[in-house]
Amino acid sequence: MSEPEGFNADLDWLIRDRFGLFIHWGLYALPARHEWVKNRERIPDEQYDRYFRHFNPDLFRPEEWAAAARRAGMRYMVITSKHHEGFALWDSQLTDYKATNTPYGRDLLRPMLDAFRAEGLRVGLYHSLIDWHHPEYPIDGLHPMRDNVEFREREKGRDMAKYAAYLHGQVRELLTHYGRIDYMWFDFSYPGSDWGWSKGKGRADWRSEELEAMCRELQPHIVFNDRLDLGRGVRTPEQYQPRRTSAAEYHFWEACQTMNGSWGYDRDNLDWKPVGLLVRMLIDSVSKGGNLLLNVGPTGRGEFDPRSLERLEGVGRWLHHHGRAIYGCGAAEETPPDDCRYTRSGDRLYLHVFAWPFRNLHLEGLGGRVEYAQLLHDASEVRYRERPGDGTLTLELPVQQPDVAVPVVELFLRR
Ligand code: GLC
Repeated sequence: MSEPEGFNADLDWLIRDRFGLFIHWGLYALPARHEWVKNRERIPDEQYDRYFRHFNPDLFRPEEWAAAARRAGMRYMVITSKHHEGFALWDSQLTDYKATNTPYGRDLLRPMLDAFRAEGLRVGLYHSLIDWHHPEYPIDGLHPMRDNVEFREREKGRDMAKYAAYLHGQVRELLTHYGRIDYMWFDFSYPGSDWGWSKGKGRADWRSEELEAMCRELQPHIVFNDRLDLGRGVRTPEQYQPRRTSAAEYHFWEACQTMNGSWGYDRDNLDWKPVGLLVRMLIDSVSKGGNLLLNVGPTGRGEFDPRSLERLEGVGRWLHHHGRAIYGCGAAEETPPDDCRYTRSGDRLYLHVFAWPFRNLHLEGLGGRVEYAQLLHDASEVRYRERPGDGTLTLELPVQQPDVAVPVVELFLRR
């Protein structure tokens, strides 16, 4: 795929791999009620520090995380080096607010990157532009202390330039000392926000052009997402699946999705998506030419919780049989029947059947174009008939839905 405006990176691996693991992990795993807990509950640093004092993920085994991701069929991973809370998962020389100073006492990032690379996955860093802990980060309408007028008054001399220098310095550390990083996932700019007493932050505040240039200087191959407020990078629709027409306007996009609505570990959350829905979201993304970055929020003991593991295993089971309908595939020109999606790679067209019909499926525009058809999971033939002249091919399907999350018919197109 040609490099579009604003990219200097090789996107081919991202387009081929299609499916990645997002990991949101930090001190917020301890309150275990969403990664924005500090904002939502307006928690001052002195109270939030209890989580720093008790952060000790003694069951952290990054090799287990990486193996679970590979078994799930994920081909790349993006981990939060720092989230909005400002806590660094690595041994940063620019702050004391880091994993090595917690009871755990060690760098969490290096073993994690090594473990995922060892499993053959590419690695990316989610790095928060926002920082609710840094003493020079100007208080604004998203800050946990936004409603404390006395605190705001006392802190109004904060210097954004000093914070931006810290931001750049930490990114430099990460791209210098942690090996090859394939993807920088910055989060997020909000230049249009205005609370009267404060405004949002965007490219001028972060010095985004320089930040992007520095990343490219250090790791020229690196891919960026679109949240530096520069109007370029991989588009990142969040917690929704874009419409086909919108997806067609993005040069390249990746839907980032949670399993239950929360990025960070959220103990009492009951909104867990079933495996079938997660599989359909992956198919939907690829059918529109995009990727799915599916999130797990590990616990404060350093484990993927059973509900996350169950879903990763379920998606992996489906991909075990259907991976070639996803990896390296993209959108098809043809319009699928209702409740179906097409993905395409060369002369293979894959029909993903979201709602199993009774016996027949009519494929418009495929008359005379198909040489053979089979159910992908077991390579069992699917017979079909064609009505000469009207361009329709009608599949003759078994009454029983195959016992897979989403059945797929592999259509071998005539060359
Ligand atoms: C939003 C949230 C942040 C989350 C990100 C993931 O920006 O603020 O908590 O990490 O989405 O895409």
